[in-house]
Amino acid sequence: MDAMPSPSKRLSLIPPYLFAEMSRIKAEAIARGADVIDLGIGDPDIPTPHAVIDALVRAVEKPETHRYDETPRGWWPFLEAAAQWYGREFGVALDPKTDVGQVIGTKEGLAHLAWAYADPGDVVITPNPGYTVYRVNSLMAGAEVHETPLRAEHGFLPRLEDIPTDIARRAKLFYVCYPHNPTGAVATPEFYRDAVRFCREYDILLVNDMAYSTVTYDGFTNPTALQVEGAKDVTIEFHSLSKMFNMTGWRLGFSIGNPDAVQTLQKLKSNLDSKQFPAIAEAGAWALTHLDNRETLKIYEERRNRLVDGLNALGWNVPKPKATFYIWAPVPGGMDSSTFAEEMLARTNVLVIPGVGYGAEGEGYVRMSLTLLGDVNGERFDEVVRRIQESGLIPQPAGV
Ligand SMILES: Cc1ncc(COP(=O)(O)O)c(C=O)c1O
Repeated sequence: MDAMPSPSKRLSLIPPYLFAEMSRIKAEAIARGADVIDLGIGDPDIPTPHAVIDALVRAVEKPETHRYDETPRGWWPFLEAAAQWYGREFGVALDPKTDVGQVIGTKEGLAHLAWAYADPGDVVITPNPGYTVYRVNSLMAGAEVHETPLRAEHGFLPRLEDIPTDIARRAKLFYVCYPHNPTGAVATPEFYRDAVRFCREYDILLVNDMAYSTVTYDGFTNPTALQVEGAKDVTIEFHSLSKMFNMTGWRLGFSIGNPDAVQTLQKLKSNLDSKQFPAIAEAGAWALTHLDNRETLKIYEERRNRLVDGLNALGWNVPKPKATFYIWAPVPGGMDSSTFAEEMLARTNVLVIPGVGYGAEGEGYVRMSLTLLGDVNGERFDEVVRRIQESGLIPQPAGV
């Protein structure tokens, strides 16, 4: 007997890598020497501000950051800075002693929340299309997943009246995400008011993933669920330093809102991890207290305008998002999203993500990210438009 044991049945619930074919074509193109423009990954290309690196260096010099963080919910300066930042940004006062918890990136927190709450027989409500982490972890925890379709005609917001009552009664968690990956949609205060009322009625915890809360354009400021009166009774939100300060690799975020929910997640985490390296939390506290992301937003905005205006001039009807660094473009001409993405890569060496990768409701769309490594003033996005024009992939109106 020298065979390895098989992985758990639970692990087989993780879907196969949907973009394998795209990765293969991309690797082939690169091997041919093609200049591939990869609009796939949503990961800030702009480095972390140097002042945060300086704050980290100062923090590393303090021996107390070299030890386990044995606090119940996270490194105190970070929790305090997070609560203060939230108050300044969204006008809601929350208590860092009870209402905030540190996570090793919001992905970790969002995933483990499902494990902390869902048992077999419970329902978790998730968005489709959506970030796959909510669904996969809920399924692995044994829960039944009810997907709410997000459609353009409803502003990519879930229709609460379409959620069956028996599902609502059995649901424990309701994940929403605004500004939304992958559609770039934003929520309204009315939506949050209704969602809070719905969750109160059915004793559901509203989980608001706000990883993109500060990536906004044109003067738009996000509403939050916790701004709704009484929301704290049924709401936990997640905020991330990843997209805010170009710190994806640092792995730092926080949960904020209902103190029981914050504590329940930390109870699970205290048996899984021993928190983030305290020096990183200390540098994160410094960033939340001293920085904003205006310079980065100017860069994304320029890229967004060049790409969306350029594609629309070609006759492709692409909406301009108010938030996130994603463009969610309807696939022209009735092609399915995977075929279109493959054609795009083969004919233009531009990689986009098929919308179906985010759920069946994403079919008919492709996602393009504005975080393009190597772009300086948006000129690579002009290049994308030029290549698409030359490819003839978009049926062009007369006169273009
Ligand atoms: C919708 C959404 N939520 C959460 C995350 C995770 O971010 P992090 O774990 O870096 O905070 C991502 C990352 O891409 C995301 O797109």
